[in-house]
Amino acid sequence: KAELRGCLLGRDIIYYSQLDSTNEEAKRRINAGCKVEEGTVIVAGRQTAGRGRMGRKWESPAGGLWFSVVLSPELAVSELALLSLVFARAVAKSLDTFLPGGCQIKWPNDVYVKGRKLAGILLELSGEMDRAHYLVAGVGINVNVAREDLAGEIRDAATSLYIEAGRKVDINKVLTGVLKSMDDYYNLFRERGFSPIREEFKACCMHLGRKVRVKRGEGYIEGINEDIDFMGNMVINTGKEIIRISTGDVSII
Ligand code: ATP
Ligand code: BTN
Repeated sequence: KAELRGCLLGRDIIYYSQLDSTNEEAKRRINAGCKVEEGTVIVAGRQTAGRGRMGRKWESPAGGLWFSVVLSPELAVSELALLSLVFARAVAKSLDTFLPGGCQIKWPNDVYVKGRKLAGILLELSGEMDRAHYLVAGVGINVNVAREDLAGEIRDAATSLYIEAGRKVDINKVLTGVLKSMDDYYNLFRERGFSPIREEFKACCMHLGRKVRVKRGEGYIEGINEDIDFMGNMVINTGKEIIRISTGDVSII
C-alpha cells in the first residue's frame, strides 16, 4: 500500500478470512519461534473467539475490521501501559475522518460515538523470558456492521461507522488510515513521550470533568475524574482523597 510506505506498522499484512482471534494467531506465531517481523499485521474477516479486555468476549462479525499488530518496543513496563492510551488516540484520530461529529475516548482505550462503543484495543505481551518480548496490539473496529448484525447483548451499547456515517466505507481505507495513524503516534511517543499526546487525549476524553464510578476490589469508588496524569492514570477526586487508578471498569454516573 502506497500510503504505508516508510511505516513500520503494516510492513507485512497477512489476511485470513476467518480466525479464532488475530491476537491468538500473532501469539501462536511468536510462540512457535517463527521470526515475526516487527510491524507485521494479522487481519481477519471475522473472528470466532474474539477477545476483549478483562477476559470478555469480543463480537467480531463479517464487515468489521479485526487486526493485530506485532511490535517489540524497547520500553519500560510503566511506559507500556501508556501505549494503550497512545493507540487509542491514534485510532480515534483516524476514525474522526469518517465521522461527521468525531468520536471520543473512554479511558483507557475504547472509542465511542455518542455514548456507544465503536472500537476497542487489547494489548498483550507475548514471548518467553529468554526470547525477545513482543507486544501484540489488537484493534477491533465495527466498520460496515449493520445494527441487526450486532449481537443482541451489544445492540444498544455498540455502534459502527456504517451506522454513524449512514453509508458503507472502504474497509481497506480504514485499515491503512488507522495503521498510518498508529505508526505516527508510536513514533511521536518514542521521540517526545506522552506529554503531547496526553493533551489530545484529554481533549476527547469522555469522562474528564465528570462524576465517575470505578469498580475496585469488592466495592466502588466514586468521584470526579479531574485529570489523566503523565503515567496515564485516571485521577479521581472523591471529595475526601485523590485516587489514581491505572486500569479498571469505569462508568459515568
Ligand atoms: P459477563 O460474563 O460479565 O456478562 P461477557 O464475557 O459475557 O461478560 P459482555 O459482558 O457481553 O461479555 O462484555 C463484552 C463487552 O464488550 C461489553 O462491554 C460489550 O458491550 C463489548 N463488546 C463486545 N463486542 C463488541 C463489539 N463488536 N463492539 C462494541 N462492543 C463490543
Ligand atoms: C476491548 O474493548 O475490550 C478490546 C477489544 C479488542 C478486540 C480486538 S479485535 C482484533 C484483536 N483480536 C482479538 O481477539 N481482540 C482484538
